[in-house]
Amino acid sequence: MSGFFTSVPLEPPNSILGLALECRKDPAADKIDLTIGAYRDDTGKPAVLECVRSAEALLFSQKPDHEYLGQDGLPEFNKAAQILMFGQGSSVLSSGRVFTIQGISGTGSLRLACDFLATHVPSAKVFIPEVTWPNHPTMLAAAHVEQATYRYLDAAGTSLNFSAMLADITTAPEGSIILLHNCAHNPTGVDPSEDEWRQILAVMKARNQLPFFDNAYQGFVTGCPTKDAFPVRLFAKAGLEMIVACSFAKNFGLYGERVGALHFVCANTQEVEKVGSQLRALARVLYSTCPAYGARLVAAVLNNDQSRGEWEAQCKAMADRLNSVRASLYQALVDLKVKGTWKHVIEQRGMFSYTGISAAVVARLKNEHHIYMLSNGRISLAGLNSSNTIRFAEKLALILGTNE
Ligand code: LMR
Repeated sequence: MSGFFTSVPLEPPNSILGLALECRKDPAADKIDLTIGAYRDDTGKPAVLECVRSAEALLFSQKPDHEYLGQDGLPEFNKAAQILMFGQGSSVLSSGRVFTIQGISGTGSLRLACDFLATHVPSAKVFIPEVTWPNHPTMLAAAHVEQATYRYLDAAGTSLNFSAMLADITTAPEGSIILLHNCAHNPTGVDPSEDEWRQILAVMKARNQLPFFDNAYQGFVTGCPTKDAFPVRLFAKAGLEMIVACSFAKNFGLYGERVGALHFVCANTQEVEKVGSQLRALARVLYSTCPAYGARLVAAVLNNDQSRGEWEAQCKAMADRLNSVRASLYQALVDLKVKGTWKHVIEQRGMFSYTGISAAVVARLKNEHHIYMLSNGRISLAGLNSSNTIRFAEKLALILGTNE
């Protein structure tokens, strides 16, 4: 018997991961990789945080076994993840209203939440920003959860159209689920202000809508994970039930270790117990239990005051470098008078800039100059450094022309 796979269609490479691979394979010495949202230092190398190195040394000296983690994951990691998200002493934690299950980084945590919605909230309709991380719509579709969009960007496609966003959330039916990026919106780097978050909260509370937060870049906006937790903590304090999917890939530099946490804030402790039992059951048939290594490292760092302080400083150093890259890129674009306006580059936040560069120009940058960025105009600022930022701006000037 054969032919089982004859009619399998060929899937094109993933718009982010596939492009990153293509860039990796490009032998050009002067290539510039602005593809994936992964931090690089000023020499273009992946960074391993010093606090993570120390936690690794400690872990190896402890010679842990390799037993399965429990179904909820590593308890001391989950506890630390809760405090990082909601704050020590927060009322949702002290009242026992949060169920946390360890997740397979951001993607795995989001997907588990989508599967939960598909199974246990059959009326669920999730509204996502019109521009969002491409994995959001595809994973909602894969989980068979109904979805719709709310407007996010202005006509130039580089700044927030807050009134449109709020209008669309206001007209979303009562009981809708609204997917929100806690901070450092991917791909745009465009976040609502604190006051705008308060307005979003007021509407969602009045309309009994469920916030579904994607929190993948905590620490990358202000350099302070506590400040960056503002939206989630604001909504939690206001008493809303919610779902929060957290990644520790970026802020701990633990990309390949797949460390994540999925929090469900419920109405009461009875619901916490029931929701938890269902999340365990869903995870069991997907991957059974989570990997231990990365969670052990994060727990070791966050549960020790000194190493937590070191982590905060190292996280801030990453955010500071990204902000200085933003400033240098903006300066280079202005100095070289590259055609267009570029103020949005320094107004956006986090790891990305949504440049407004067209797909046609993106293709020319790749084909003529070995510069790789997403076709939607997103660049990962981490791929820029003191030796290639001006060159990137020069190549843009070559293709786009200058303002005079
Ligand atoms: C990105 O957006 O580049 C990252 O979140 C990596 C990914 O998995 O897409």
